[in-house]
Amino acid sequence: KMPIVFDCDPGHDDAVALFMAVGSERFDLRGITCVPGNNLLDKVSQNALKLTEFLGLDIPVVAGCPKPLAQECHPAVSVHGASGMEGPHLPLPKKQLAKVNAIDFLAQQIREAGGELTIVAVGPLTNIATLLLAYPELKGDIKRICIMGGSAEGGNVTPVAEFNIWHDPEAARIVFASGVPITMCGLDVTHRLYITEPEVEEIRALGRVGRLAAELFDYYKMYHGEGGVHNVIPHDAVAVCWLLDPEMFYTRSLHVEVDAGSSLSRGCTQVFAISRDLGDDSVKAEVVFDGDRDKFVQMFKHCIANLG
Ligand code: BDR
Ligand code: CA
Repeated sequence: KMPIVFDCDPGHDDAVALFMAVGSERFDLRGITCVPGNNLLDKVSQNALKLTEFLGLDIPVVAGCPKPLAQECHPAVSVHGASGMEGPHLPLPKKQLAKVNAIDFLAQQIREAGGELTIVAVGPLTNIATLLLAYPELKGDIKRICIMGGSAEGGNVTPVAEFNIWHDPEAARIVFASGVPITMCGLDVTHRLYITEPEVEEIRALGRVGRLAAELFDYYKMYHGEGGVHNVIPHDAVAVCWLLDPEMFYTRSLHVEVDAGSSLSRGCTQVFAISRDLGDDSVKAEVVFDGDRDKFVQMFKHCIANLG
């Protein structure tokens, strides 16, 4: 099994990405670290605790950095509601957050996995950048950071910036320049791997986890509804799916430059596909552009059904 830590800001799509990771039975999930994004740190951390309790997972849930590196938090209340995971009712967690520093926790997990740890990063990259700044000697021991974030063509917060990168561009810049193997599952691919309303109904019929996933989608789809079509876009689940089967995707090794300036394009991930010769030594990320939607939905349903 692939050892992973799940760094997230739940978040409707963070939640279903976690379901997929756990239901696949292909990962050894060593812990969850939380980062502000969809909502403030205390809210997303509580949401993560609720999800682990619902799934019966006995793993550490750790609260990470309280704020982005160089700016204030900007919760995505219009997308994820007041709690960060509005919609279904989940009981208040009995479990407590682990009393460790998230950055030290990540460092310890990297060491223990002996070069095999993959970090699935589906929120802003604040925790990951802080880790790389605090423990630069561990860079070579991280197997991969599989990110949901960024976009080669067009953003969802500004015309050019995707939310996770826009929420902490300084952190994203550090991560993309680090030289650690990176996969970028950006809006280019996530917008293509939508789930239709009839598919949501199929998911609802898959058991208690399917029901919860569908209830999360019921709320989340209100944001995506355009012209009466309520497809849902479970962005974060795509990063999990890429790890499960990279062959399902169209991926290219390209240089990514994050704009952390204060211009109109702050938070933009510039993907150098054709426009500049950067030389062979430029840092590359695996940039994911497209994937097989039918297989994605099938795999999603399979993982959810496994959880009962
Ligand atoms: C990303 O932003 C958040 O709202 C989602 O959880 C996802 O990680 C999509 O831009
Ligand atoms: Ca997220």
